[in-house]
Amino acid sequence: MEMDSPSQCRPPHVVIFPLPLQGHINSMIKLAELLALAGFKLTFLNSHHNHERLIKFTSIVAYFKRYPGFELKTITDGLPLDHPRSGNWFLETYEEAILMKIKQSFREMMINSNPPVDCVIADGFSGYAIDVANELGIPIIGFRTSSPRSFWVYYSITDIIKAGELPIRGSEDMDRLITTVPGMETYLRCRDLPSFCRKPDIEDSTVQLIVKQTRKSTQADALIFNTTDELDEPILSQIRTKCANIYPIGPLHAQLNTRLKAKHGESFDQFSNTLREEDKSCIPWLDKQPNRSVIYVSFGSITSTSRDQLVELWYGLLNSKTKFLFVVRPDSVIGKDGEGEDFVKELMEKSKDRGYIVDWAPQEVVLNHEAVGGFLTHSGWNSTLESIVAGVPMVCWPYFADQQVTSRVVSTVWKIGLDMKDVSDRKIVEKMVNDVMVDQKEFVNSATDMAKVINQCVSIGGSSSNNLDRLIEDIRMKRLKTTFVRKEFT
Ligand code: UDX
Repeated sequence: MEMDSPSQCRPPHVVIFPLPLQGHINSMIKLAELLALAGFKLTFLNSHHNHERLIKFTSIVAYFKRYPGFELKTITDGLPLDHPRSGNWFLETYEEAILMKIKQSFREMMINSNPPVDCVIADGFSGYAIDVANELGIPIIGFRTSSPRSFWVYYSITDIIKAGELPIRGSEDMDRLITTVPGMETYLRCRDLPSFCRKPDIEDSTVQLIVKQTRKSTQADALIFNTTDELDEPILSQIRTKCANIYPIGPLHAQLNTRLKAKHGESFDQFSNTLREEDKSCIPWLDKQPNRSVIYVSFGSITSTSRDQLVELWYGLLNSKTKFLFVVRPDSVIGKDGEGEDFVKELMEKSKDRGYIVDWAPQEVVLNHEAVGGFLTHSGWNSTLESIVAGVPMVCWPYFADQQVTSRVVSTVWKIGLDMKDVSDRKIVEKMVNDVMVDQKEFVNSATDMAKVINQCVSIGGSSSNNLDRLIEDIRMKRLKTTFVRKEFT
């Protein structure tokens, strides 16, 4: 590799490489734009499949032309192009063989890159990228797109097992506290552990893959988290004991928004990096509703529900005191092909006076709409941050993985919502929606207060803004390999 200093003769060349999933692409493409704004040369490496979807549903190519040297490149995700990639395909299909295939393509791209790569920012779930970067002497930063607390729980699973707190035995008390995750001893219960911890066989390959990837990511030169010190500091300190150099630079969508508006003016609209077609007809519908009168309901890009669960949620909403805007992806209703679509049409017809149902919404716009007063969410990390920034309290109905941890933190640590985990009963849905939207004003107050604090973090002088500037300077000055003490993977 050429060893010239980018600061002397050319801008640093950074490669950003997300996992091929909507929730991961969202925050990483925002980071790519923030670094492009800082004058870096950027290569955004997407799977062929997702690149095609972005081209279909967004103006990605035209939009990024404004940044000289911003390149969109594609790489295999290891699966044939005609694979449906629906539901939780990622964890179901990913195994070592597929990861090795991607590793090989990634390695060739890094070797053949012109200009040479000065820094790789790879999804924290892609341990193989660390091996490639280390072999080629390229600084590498892992980006963990889910919450630091879920990362820390994943990291601690080996210790939880060693202490005999996992596996879960039969129908034991799911409310018992887990004592072996430092910093979370007072609130993390058995039921708040990531969903896959409920498997009777803790040696299961999915559990092992997640634990291995998590521990491996602390071998990167540094870690980026889409959070702020103000939200997660106690746990960030714990994580620093495993990887000393951490950059909490989020919420990235708010950080980007602030910097773009500072550069182009208040009316500048961010690029929407959606992999699905947004149904914008919900905005004129929201325009007609009173302030804070609508609960927005969406379970992200992966969650699926049974028909029974959907019916309970729908009745709970229908019986509550509020109107609702419900995102139901047709592929999210478990059943035979096409069945979901007919069923959703039926629900839509029956609830037209009280609610509005769409396949996919412009979520950030919706959450910032005055008519929206609450969010019934699956507690995906992007959705949680988007809700926090908009000052919208939540009812959490986590589906899998990190979401079980996040919903507990939203309700018990930050107190900006309620956790409806493990329940889909129309009476409970109705009660929790009423509590958050109508009956308990403290949720609105605490969500509003938190939004003020978090929005400060991304403005000039705020903690996340400073951390982003530090990241930019560390990459520019090639300080990444020297500013941290490498901890061995244990
Ligand atoms: C998953 C995990 O659940 C999440 O915690 C992890 O950090 C990334 O992978 P996902 O389930 O899709 O992601 O949830 P989330 O992280 O909330 O991301 C969904 C994104 O899709 C959000 O940015 C949201 O704004 C967007 N979205 C969702 C839409 O634009 N429209 C919709 O109708 C629904």
